[in-house]
Amino acid sequence: MILQHSPAVVVTQLEAIQGDITCLAVDAIVNAANQSLMGGGGVDGAIHRAAGLELLAACSKLKGCATGDAKATPAFRLPAKWVFHAVGPVWRGGAGGEDELLAGCYRRCLELAREHHAKAIAFPAISTGIYGFPSERAARIAVATVREHAPGAEVELVKFVCFDGQTYSIYQRLLQAG
Ligand code: APR
Repeated sequence: MILQHSPAVVVTQLEAIQGDITCLAVDAIVNAANQSLMGGGGVDGAIHRAAGLELLAACSKLKGCATGDAKATPAFRLPAKWVFHAVGPVWRGGAGGEDELLAGCYRRCLELAREHHAKAIAFPAISTGIYGFPSERAARIAVATVREHAPGAEVELVKFVCFDGQTYSIYQRLLQAG
């Protein structure tokens, strides 16, 4: 999937991979955090374990993060340079603005990417684990938001990192559909 933005004429490559986001040597990886930013389970737990205790210390200085927003820290022991901590919505049936809040996570991470000159960024499937957001609906929001905002953020590579086969096949189908 190639997207273009003029006048900078940035070409953004979108791809889906299956694996562990903590292993990726991209400029920034996105964490699916909670409002406290003080760690948790799922990908949040994996990122904090791999980054080391300095990440928790850096997060504690951020004084939390609102749902639909994202904040940046260095990545410390991770191979990436930055971690963008995004707080996705808890799924409550879809009538409470969950779609817009999830889109906000992707949009804010792309704004952080531009601010930090991160040209390659990796996203997990935010909110689709413990927060219960339906995987296909979340993937459609993720791909649409990245398609719209990544070229303008001068991001050249976006990796959607899927931890399970079902999520991976959803992203592959959406990216191939164009
Ligand atoms: N790499 C990539 N993706 C991962 C990894 C990993 N190492 N571990 C889990 N995932 C996937 C899950 O399979 C799911 O598809 O990340 C997606 C998001 O799931 P969660 O990590 O449960 O995040 P979320 O649903 O957004 O819930 C956030 O869970 O861990 C706590 O502190 C976190 O309270 C917050 C809540």
